[in-house]
Amino acid sequence: MKTGAWIVAIAVIGALGLTVLAQEPQATIPADSEYAGSKLCGMCHKDEKTAFAETPHAKYVPPADALEPWKHSTGWDKATGEAKEPGVQCEACHGRGKTHAGAKTEDKKTLIINPLNLDAPGKITSICAQCHAYYKPKEGDAPVAFTPGENIFEKIDLLPVEEGKAMQQVNELVGSLHHTKQHMTCIQCHTSHTEGMIPGNLRKAVPDLCVQCHADEADIAKHTEAHTTKAKEGDTCDTCHMPDDVHTFAKPPK
Ligand code: HEC
Ligand code: HEC
Ligand code: HEC
Ligand code: HEC
Ligand code: HEC
Ligand code: HEC
Repeated sequence: MKTGAWIVAIAVIGALGLTVLAQEPQATIPADSEYAGSKLCGMCHKDEKTAFAETPHAKYVPPADALEPWKHSTGWDKATGEAKEPGVQCEACHGRGKTHAGAKTEDKKTLIINPLNLDAPGKITSICAQCHAYYKPKEGDAPVAFTPGENIFEKIDLLPVEEGKAMQQVNELVGSLHHTKQHMTCIQCHTSHTEGMIPGNLRKAVPDLCVQCHADEADIAKHTEAHTTKAKEGDTCDTCHMPDDVHTFAKPPK
């Protein structure tokens, strides 16, 4: 399905209040599959490799003394304190892919995670929550054992949003109507490596991204006319509803 069609489909499904996204049975990463490394993935997936190379994830250079190294690397191993690859690479989002890489073509799809084909919105957001959430494990220390395809929220408690804190977009989103009413996930607004994406890894620029669903608010001057917050020249949706890029999508105070 083309991305646009997918977004519309999810908007409709969300509006009906259903949580099932796909019809096909979900793939799983076999417990014994190992990390293959992004180089190997890129040999077969050339388009994804090229598009991904232009993204902030691919360009990210982690600091050597990161406090939570698992949020800055791929395949960080608690036992050894070492990662398979620095930064955010293919298998951070798609799962350990060695078995997929070596499998027969007809089996490949069942052995790797395509976030679009997961059967619950929480499993999609789980992938991003490995790094973009501020949490406490229900048991033991962070990070929790997690493989894409699973639901990380069964293993963690999100902490309350802290003003000015980076990397807590999941905590912010789950408190908003976008989550509670729309079951919205990160990947409805953000792409990871598709062609034509724009800065911020957005699928579309604001305001187009927002007016897909909020056509009634397209006339900004009108919808702020009776409010103390009035629109100024150059303001757009995120100026007022995402100050400092905060993902709570709240209305400005009266
Ligand atoms: C030897 C070639 C090869 C390698 C190496 C390979 N893939 Fe694939 N991959 C494929 C093929 C072929 C398909 C399509 C299978 C199909 O459509 O049934 C595929 C499909 C996929 C899909 C889509 C699955 C779906 O359900 O839509 C993802 C995601 C993916 N690969 C990621 C990866 C990642 C990540 C790596 C590295 C760990 C990797 N691949 C390594 C050949 C490869
Ligand atoms: C930050 C998370 C993330 C990273 C890192 C990532 N992907 Fe993906 N990938 C996704 C998501 C999300 C999708 C679903 C499609 C979309 O969002 O448009 C996807 C889709 C795919 C697909 C299926 C495309 C299709 O048209 O069916 C392939 C193949 C793939 N990725 C390969 C890769 C390879 C190879 C790398 C590394 C070079 C990589 N991905 C890195 C998140 C990621
Ligand atoms: C309704 C659309 C929407 C959803 C859903 C959404 N985002 Fe965003 N996100 C945006 C927009 C718009 C920006 C601002 C981009 C810019 O200014 O360049 C942004 C910016 C970001 C940034 C950059 C912030 C910074 O301070 O540098 C990150 C990281 C991010 N989003 C991650 C996420 C994650 C993770 C999720 C899921 C929990 C998510 N987003 C869900 C629309 C969305
Ligand atoms: C392994 C950890 C990890 C995973 C998994 C991950 N991210 Fe990120 N993400 C990062 C890091 C680290 C940065 C860079 C932060 C910085 O530069 O301050 C980042 C940056 C971003 C940005 C900022 C782009 C910009 O313009 O600066 C967006 C948007 C984003 N991630 C979305 C996502 C989404 C959506 C997912 C899930 C599909 C995801 N990320 C999965 C670690 C991760
Ligand atoms: C896929 C559809 C969709 C997209 C895309 C979308 N929204 Fe929403 N948004 C909703 C729904 C559904 C609600 C809940 C409406 C309701 O309850 O009346 C909502 C509610 C809101 C609210 C009201 C929050 C409140 O507390 O009353 C704001 C503000 C908002 N969205 C801003 C945005 C912005 C800004 C963007 C773009 C970055 C955006 N939305 C993108 C569907 C969407
Ligand atoms: C200058 C600031 C500003 C800008 C720019 C702005 N809004 Fe708003 N928006 C507001 C205010 C203020 C309210 C609250 C109105 C109220 O409380 O009655 C609001 C309310 C909303 C609501 C909730 C409507 C409801 O009936 O509850 C949505 C959805 C929304 N805006 C979406 C958008 C979208 C989409 C854009 C971009 C096209 C946008 N806004 C641009 C200030 C702004």
